[in-house]
Amino acid sequence: MRAVTWHGRGDVRADTLPDPTLQEPTDVIVEITSSGICGSDLHLIEVMAPFMSPGDVMGHEPMGIVREVGSEVTAVAPGDRVVVPFNISCGTCWMCGEGLFSQCETTQNREQGMGASLFGYTKLYGQVPGGQAELLRVPFGNTLPIKVPEGLPDDRFVYLSDVLPTAWQAVQYAAVPPGGTLLVLGLGPIGDMCTRIAHHLGIEKVWAVDDVPERLQRARRRGTEVIGTTKKDEVVRQIRDATNGRGADSVIDAVGMESHGNPIATAVQKATAVVPDAIMERVMQVAGIDRLAALNTALEAVRRGGTVSLSGVYGGATDPLPLMRMFDKQIQLRMGQANVWRWVPDILPILTEGDPLGVDDFATHRVPLEQAPQAYADFRQKQNGTVKVLLQP
Ligand SMILES: NC(=O)c1ccc[n+]([C@@H]2O[C@H](COP(=O)([O-])OP(=O)(O)OC[C@H]3O[C@@H](n4cnc5c(N)ncnc54)[C@H](O)[C@@H]3O)[C@@H](O)[C@H]2O)c1
Ligand SMILES: [Zn+2]
Ligand SMILES: [Zn+2]
Repeated sequence: MRAVTWHGRGDVRADTLPDPTLQEPTDVIVEITSSGICGSDLHLIEVMAPFMSPGDVMGHEPMGIVREVGSEVTAVAPGDRVVVPFNISCGTCWMCGEGLFSQCETTQNREQGMGASLFGYTKLYGQVPGGQAELLRVPFGNTLPIKVPEGLPDDRFVYLSDVLPTAWQAVQYAAVPPGGTLLVLGLGPIGDMCTRIAHHLGIEKVWAVDDVPERLQRARRRGTEVIGTTKKDEVVRQIRDATNGRGADSVIDAVGMESHGNPIATAVQKATAVVPDAIMERVMQVAGIDRLAALNTALEAVRRGGTVSLSGVYGGATDPLPLMRMFDKQIQLRMGQANVWRWVPDILPILTEGDPLGVDDFATHRVPLEQAPQAYADFRQKQNGTVKVLLQP
């Protein structure tokens, strides 16, 4: 099969690999028809590179058609159309029963001290081959794949793999009080979708911050008030001015570890590119490595007693945080990888009734696997209007 593989910092390639095969009686093989490129994939070709190996198959936002099923699979059959969640969760353990699918006890990476395995995502999360490929082996065939109806384009459903449940969870965790206000930091696919879900759920006042013109324009077109600078002091000033000096009730950080705005942390992250990976892997397991500009903006822009919801991914073991300020302000902080299946029953009916979240034209680019290297470069550099890319194997 053809697949997108990792080869180093900023270096992904389309390669030919052996087709995956059924390994367990509950496995299924899915022929992928659409597969997103995510902001999380960018971490893998930058800061998280020490945890990757050449040849790893990228991708965790796939959907397609079931081609083969193991002898114990009864929930799906060849020909079924399925979306595959980015968390690899069994659906039957205690954590899955609690709705904490990203902490699945069957696939937790205990030797790494990490949560559930993820498709296409580093040694920390199981180094499982990902879904930017023609074929994908999916375990837990009776509980993991999300069956979706025929008759609508892939775009309608593909974001159930990650973008929709991640943004949905971010908004739920933000716990905006009735009549309250929400600030979203970052207008990549995740932040953008957070603003759409917030409007859909009736949150009256939504601001969003980014500094990429076409991303600001996408949000503005859907009724979000945008702030076109990522400078902390300026963002905080504008939010306080609009809220009697208090700050927003809730803030979502949809940026993560590579935020703009901290030259020292940026230099440290660049250094990870020249230090040998084996050493850097150790350093990252004990040191702070994240650029914390967006998180610090969130902690300042939220009001006293408000909630900060983190969906942006952070990767440092001991990042410095302003705990005195957080404690004094009585901030509530919620975070984590999205528990995909936890939110599917809430989201799927919204997708089949119509398109209130605008998923049909959410992608800015749809390209074959062979064009993945260019698409990654464009997404990483935020050029050619690239906000969301769907690969179409
Ligand atoms: N929690 C989860 O389950 C989950 C799932 C998917 C993605 N993510 C994470 O969500 C984050 C966003 O993903 P994405 O696909 O939208 O990526 P993205 O890289 O396209 O989006 C990040 C956006 O933040 C903007 N930005 C940078 N610094 C900023 C700052 N200081 N203030 C405000 N905006 C700033 C950038 O211009 C960019 O538009 C990533 O960290 C990704 O790993 C988490
Ligand atoms: Zn993703
Ligand atoms: Zn489980």
